[in-house]
Amino acid sequence: MEIVILPDGAAVGAAAADRIAAVVRRNPQAVLGLATGSSPLGAYGALAALVARGEVDLSHASGFALDEYVGVPPESAHSYAATIARDATGPLGMDPARVQTPDGTAPDPEAACVDYERRIREAGGIDVQLLGIGTNGHIGFNEPTSSFASRTRIKTLAPRTRQDNARFFGGDLDAVPLHCITQGLGTILDARQLLLVAQGESKATAVAAAVEGPLSAMVPASALQLHRSAVVLLDEAAASKLTLADYYRFTYDHKPTWQRG
Ligand code: GLP
Repeated sequence: MEIVILPDGAAVGAAAADRIAAVVRRNPQAVLGLATGSSPLGAYGALAALVARGEVDLSHASGFALDEYVGVPPESAHSYAATIARDATGPLGMDPARVQTPDGTAPDPEAACVDYERRIREAGGIDVQLLGIGTNGHIGFNEPTSSFASRTRIKTLAPRTRQDNARFFGGDLDAVPLHCITQGLGTILDARQLLLVAQGESKATAVAAAVEGPLSAMVPASALQLHRSAVVLLDEAAASKLTLADYYRFTYDHKPTWQRG
């Protein structure tokens, strides 16, 4: 795992954008794993700026969202389909026909999960998966005690996640759905590269547990420890509870030229 501590959220976003852009320059038809929430917004903004300057073209890339609320139609502004369209597909100049989210209103949600796995597989798998992290250590909507082998499936949101996400529903906790469809930890681990971004003090405990704690289903993001190409981009506040922060800084400062993107 590569842990990079950067001065602020803007630097985290820029670093994530640079890494995604590098993947797309190598392969214009790359498959991107897209995340929702506030964490990836800086990355999308920086990537959109690269697109606007003509430094990368995402119009031939595909995208798969990590998750979706069950029972929220894609037309609703609260759906992750709408969120991804607003925050990522549009600003990044991606082709909407190539960007998919799990179907949270499918009459048969379990079949929709199986179908989502099939669609990812048929696209050739995800080249680079962007991830945020929940304050309880979740990635996607893989709440604590999720299996490291899990595939796309229906989950019940943890009370803390519903509280955290109530801000996207005008502060109304009752409006936050109870269930979601999320890529599993096993699905996420199949991506060829993982890019986790975290900013702010509220993520520091989850980040430290994920990066330096034991592998544990109680900290779903600790699954990153099993991946051969996982990068964790943090601002100072999100890195503030890491025991080996100085080592990560030293490692990054002395990264051999041949390893630099
Ligand atoms: C959400 C999403 C996750 C996201 C996390 C953190 O509920 N399902 O993909 O990473 O929780 O959200 P935020 O970035 O807004 O803090």
